[in-house]
Amino acid sequence: MRIAIGCDHTGLALKETIKNYLESRMIPFEDFGTFTSESADYPRVAEIVSKAILSGQFDRGILICGTGIGMSIAANKFPGIRAAAVSEPYSAILARRHNNANVLTFGARVVAGGLAALIVEGWLNASFEGERHQRRVDMITRIEQRNQAPTIATQPETTLDPESPNTDEPLEPDLT
Ligand code: RB5
Repeated sequence: MRIAIGCDHTGLALKETIKNYLESRMIPFEDFGTFTSESADYPRVAEIVSKAILSGQFDRGILICGTGIGMSIAANKFPGIRAAAVSEPYSAILARRHNNANVLTFGARVVAGGLAALIVEGWLNASFEGERHQRRVDMITRIEQRNQAPTIATQPETTLDPESPNTDEPLEPDLT
């Protein structure tokens, strides 16, 4: 299992704690930023991590902002992403068992490091239970399909540009 991880400027310390936990469990991950305490807009990081998962290169994601809410709202805009904002292990475990959540989001201003590691552990150890839960997740997928906006093809971004962490300008579509 490979995990894509990202944060805004509020989540730097908690991200390091979670990375240390993943390293201790020998779970491979890639850090997609942000890497400095300079203000970084969370939707940008959520987009990069969500696209990394949807590309198939990563199985799950962890996103951290001040509350976990902005990251979950942004990540859930991507069809196929099921992001759960959690602050205790029970919800994280059920997010996996019932909702097949492939992204966990945290509030660095809400959850302390030790608790965050327990939450990640519960989420990683839990398995999707399928059956009636699969039917409901399939319903969510169909809602996504029915409500998809027309898209302009843009090249997926894979890294946060440290020079401009706050831009949401899409790359120029290739019209050739
Ligand atoms: C940044 O101040 C804060 O708004 C952001 O980290 C996040 O909590 C938004 O949901």
